[in-house]
Amino acid sequence: MKKIEFIKAVYNLSELPKQNLPTVVLCGRSNVGKSSFINSIFNTKMAKTSSSPGKTRSINYYLVENKFFIVDLPGFGYAKVSKKERDAWQHLLEKYFSINENIKLAMHIIDSRHDPMQLDIELNGFLHSINIPYFLLMNKTDKLKQSELAAAKKRVVKFFPEIALGENLLLYSSIKGTGKKEVVKLLTSLFLM
Ligand code: GTP
Ligand code: MG
Repeated sequence: MKKIEFIKAVYNLSELPKQNLPTVVLCGRSNVGKSSFINSIFNTKMAKTSSSPGKTRSINYYLVENKFFIVDLPGFGYAKVSKKERDAWQHLLEKYFSINENIKLAMHIIDSRHDPMQLDIELNGFLHSINIPYFLLMNKTDKLKQSELAAAKKRVVKFFPEIALGENLLLYSSIKGTGKKEVVKLLTSLFLM
């Protein structure tokens, strides 16, 4: 996967790209590394990242090999956002997933150092309820020792009982490139073959 182009930043669901291409959506809390994931998978610096949460503010569409879209969403759970804004965002997100028949995969990214939050559990439940194929990606594994990683995996399975390593759970590090091969293989088999 070499060719990636930034297509557009969407602020309103009426502005979604008109092309009906299979779409992978990256979702998760603010600061877990969604934008960094794009940069690491596609060896680019196109996606803007930041050490402080709340960097991505629009639904950002990227086109890969002219075959599929990968979408970087704003993170949720960003503390500085008002409840009103949070509710509006949750509403928009649910609408986005519900109306968009091109979404073929949701990659829910979490920070492997922390337990999933209520909002993660809600997102997981929502995506299941509308039957969108789902992968959970534990990012920032470079920050954990082997024993800590083993404990983190166990915890995640407790929170999301349907998750199983090798099936729909990926261990990842944007910094070290851990898990990159598996992700490339997955995306290639789903959208480029
Ligand atoms: P929002 O746009 O606010 O939703 O955040 P995001 O999920 O897009 O996170 P972003 O990619 O901007 O990364 C947040 C911070 O985490 C940055 O400082 C990244 O350098 C760092 N980061 C991302 N991935 C990794 C990783 O695998 N390991 C480590 N150690 N840091 C990472
Ligand atoms: Mg981002």
